Amino acid sequence: MKPLEIKDNIFWVGAIDWNIRDFHGYSTYKGTTYNSYLVKDEKIALVDTVKKSHLNDLVQHIKQLMDPTEIDYLIVNHVEMDHSGSLPEIIELIQPEKIFCSKMGLKSINEHFHPEDWPLEAVENGQTISLGSKTIQFLETRMLHWPDSMFSYLQEDKILISSDAFGQHYASSERFDDEVDFSGLMEQTTKYYANILTLYSPLIKKLLAKVQEMGLEIDMIAPDHGLIWRSHIKDVLQAYSDWSQNKGRRKALVIYDTMWESTQNMAKAITTGINMSGVSVKLINLAVSHRSDVMTDVLNAKAVVLGCATLNNGLLPRMAGFLMYMRGLKPTNKIGAAFGSFGWSGEAVKLMNAAMEEMKFDIIEPGLRVKYVPNHTDLQECVEMGQRIGEAVIAQTEE
Ligand code: FEO
Repeated sequence: MKPLEIKDNIFWVGAIDWNIRDFHGYSTYKGTTYNSYLVKDEKIALVDTVKKSHLNDLVQHIKQLMDPTEIDYLIVNHVEMDHSGSLPEIIELIQPEKIFCSKMGLKSINEHFHPEDWPLEAVENGQTISLGSKTIQFLETRMLHWPDSMFSYLQEDKILISSDAFGQHYASSERFDDEVDFSGLMEQTTKYYANILTLYSPLIKKLLAKVQEMGLEIDMIAPDHGLIWRSHIKDVLQAYSDWSQNKGRRKALVIYDTMWESTQNMAKAITTGINMSGVSVKLINLAVSHRSDVMTDVLNAKAVVLGCATLNNGLLPRMAGFLMYMRGLKPTNKIGAAFGSFGWSGEAVKLMNAAMEEMKFDIIEPGLRVKYVPNHTDLQECVEMGQRIGEAVIAQTEE
């Protein structure tokens, strides 16, 4: 690949990771990119670096444009290793005059790299630095999604370098949102929000309000992963606004794991009932679905119906793992219900209800349990439960 000038004297010099398929437990079927931006002016700044494994790509891209030792400033928007892993080698190579980061970034860099003589300088929220004709303003975005996170806004060029926010795990030779299939791009943007940012929705809501209040003019949003937004800025801002409000569409999910297909048959009957009510429904078997894809569906669904057989007085491991993952991401404002077959003790429904209570789901059914194999009457009860869930979804959604 080669560097790309995204606006006058502002270059993408990052790296493309075509092969990554697992990003700390999140499935990345389309790979990812680690975006880094070179801003050339009287002073030259490099904004963010790349994962250590891709250091060579970054260095080669910079060398195609200039001598790396001429870079004056390094800006560290985020200290997670996919963006900072190559910092020691880059600092050794370019010997920057200053390294700008947030206050929490300073702490975080010290805790990651234990440097002795790096020229670190913590910046305040809203502080600017001049490169000559270009000005960079720093916006603290603490806990979006790490304590150290910040954005860098190029004032004259109206480019918001947004760290992880608005990113997607999407490897491609194209660099801009209008150069790839829009629905595929939004699919990856949704998955990114669902698996990285759901937990921080209240902060995102505040951040979007703050950006609006500041009246920032934005011609491009340049995230640290995936495509740069220049034609669909309104679309991605609207999507973030909707997701941060946990609106939930008129859609239900029936997510289950099964032992001898009894719970699966219950799941199918509940799905039929939801469908009969006129609500869109998706049946998801955890045995063939990755948790990060399931969470992508959860983001936009209003109802989450969980089914699991009881194993050794507990849950089947796939459901237990999924619940742990979902609880960490804290989706809110969902309708919940549980079901499952059992042999003698039957704790699974109680355990799923407890997990949903913890997430403050609106649990509208006590939970449906069937001993061993459901008969016709049991399956009819499942259909009726599905219908009641569908009616609740209709009552609580606007579409
Ligand atoms: Fe892409 Fe939070 O690192």
